[in-house]
Amino acid sequence: MAPHSDPGPEPEDYSQPVLEGRAPSDYERYLNTEGLLALQKGPDDWVHRDELLFQVTHQASELWLKLAASDAAEAARLIEEGDLQGALRLLDRSSLCIRYVISQLDMLEHMSPWEYQEIRKVLGHGSGFDSPGWNALRHVFPRLGQAFHAARRAAGLSLADLYVQGRAHEDLYRLAEALMELDEQAQHWRLRHYQVVARVIGDKVVGTQGTPVELLGRLVSKTSFPELWEVRNELTALSKASTE
Ligand code: HEM
Repeated sequence: MAPHSDPGPEPEDYSQPVLEGRAPSDYERYLNTEGLLALQKGPDDWVHRDELLFQVTHQASELWLKLAASDAAEAARLIEEGDLQGALRLLDRSSLCIRYVISQLDMLEHMSPWEYQEIRKVLGHGSGFDSPGWNALRHVFPRLGQAFHAARRAAGLSLADLYVQGRAHEDLYRLAEALMELDEQAQHWRLRHYQVVARVIGDKVVGTQGTPVELLGRLVSKTSFPELWEVRNELTALSKASTE
């Protein structure tokens, strides 16, 4: 008689979901696509079909800003703990999120400025000033700045020293530049947003929360780490003085 051979474990049936939930696949269960795709108005509720473009652009931006703020907050915690390399990795991701949000603004320029006026009527007092993602990011910047300056002071360096002796303090130098990158991207977003707003509704009107668009233009020059911009002036003066 042939020896009984062990059939081994049952081959896995990859077609069947294994995660908790009611959706037909693990993809839909894990990502909660049912909930996600129900977050936009449907055709029966549209005043204009570009409401889908408008909602998708804003909702996608909120998600990227959520990740940007979460990574920036974790980076601040890591700097406070002295893990500058770990912080750098997250700050790069945070800046990349803002780049995505900037590039998504292009989509809004594909709406007709006249037809957009229809959509505007159903926005109520909705305004980007209440954007949870943008506000979370703005609020994490001061903590990041404080953590960076504490680390710099602990190394006994002024900001100008750090740049002049940058090669000897590689991590701190890279951290300063990562904060600059974040600030530059945030400023770039403000500029690009202002351009899109001016192109869609005009530059001499007021927004849905009563803010003159001109004010958005003035906010473009706002920076979150002004001392990092200022030190460039100091370096130029220092260099000039050393050659005189
Ligand atoms: C057609 C497209 C858009 C128009 C016409 C528009 C218009 C405006 C206006 C007029 C303001 C000033 C506040 C007010 O409403 O009174 C504002 C602020 C703002 N909007 Fe938009 N916006 C558009 C797209 C977006 C998108 C896609 C985002 C992405 C999150 C966004 C985020 C913001 C934020 C964060 C502010 C506050 C600005 C700051 O704190 O510097 N907006 N927007």
